Amino acid sequence: MTQSVFITGNSGGLGYGLTAEYLSRGYEVYGLSRRGCTGIDTKALHDVRCDLSRASAIVPALESLLGEVSRLNLVFLNAGVLGDIRDITETPLADILRVMDINVWANKIILDWLHARELGIEQIVLISSGAAVKSHKGWGAYSLSKATLNMLSQLYAPEYPDTHLCALAPGLVDTAMQDHLCNPDEVDVDRYPSVQKLRAARGTDRMPTPQAAAQRLAQVIPKLKDHPSGSFVDVRTMNAAP
Ligand SMILES: NC(=O)c1ccc[n+]([C@@H]2O[C@H](COP(=O)([O-])OP(=O)(O)OC[C@H]3O[C@@H](n4cnc5c(N)ncnc54)[C@H](OP(=O)(O)O)[C@@H]3O)[C@@H](O)[C@H]2O)c1
Repeated sequence: MTQSVFITGNSGGLGYGLTAEYLSRGYEVYGLSRRGCTGIDTKALHDVRCDLSRASAIVPALESLLGEVSRLNLVFLNAGVLGDIRDITETPLADILRVMDINVWANKIILDWLHARELGIEQIVLISSGAAVKSHKGWGAYSLSKATLNMLSQLYAPEYPDTHLCALAPGLVDTAMQDHLCNPDEVDVDRYPSVQKLRAARGTDRMPTPQAAAQRLAQVIPKLKDHPSGSFVDVRTMNAAP
């Protein structure tokens, strides 16, 4: 029987890499993003456009994309935004709320919809970040959102008894998110020294392409089940005992 995966944020970056990876593994892929997943021509790819910052648009998009689907094997709640890198004291609440809407609350709406549908999902992976558990100057809105996402995974796990949930930090990936962080005109390294490490990693195997990162993630997804459902796992430390 053909396996199926639902991936949010699959128009670019890691989500696009995951889309290509799971198509190459013979999956039916269902994707959601604002721009749409272009450049891959196959009937196995099903795509809907949706702005996850508009809460009222999410359920209609899910109905249109997944309304006729009776079973999903795997879900990646991957769509995410970084927000501006700036001091937390200078970050307007509206900016934090915008990041939270996309990185957290959109996922709550999706998790509730999937739960009601009883699609027999085996695994749900919420794409988190090392920033969820480690604070760096300037990353306030993003860190808050990913820390809350980790808690969302813990909170939903017991209410999804037949599905394994995991908040997963994918490690550094060379995507548009890094374009912003690694641009000296956009982020001042003297003020926000943590970006220095990212700039040094770019172009090395410490920051793989989205395709390479997706390949590695797809390999470790089954091993996430070694950890209790609801856990936060960092792919870079996955060999450590759970
Ligand atoms: N890159 C890294 O080093 C890194 C490290 C740790 C964690 N992560 C996490 O990995 C995930 C993917 O990030 P990435 O690096 O691949 O970023 P990216 O290249 O910027 O891609 C983000 C994806 O999210 C979608 N998205 C953003 N806002 C959206 C909205 N309002 N509605 C619908 N879709 C939206 C984008 O699609 P549209 O623009 O078409 O809407 C795009 O497909 C994120 O959750 C990120 O926090 C990344």
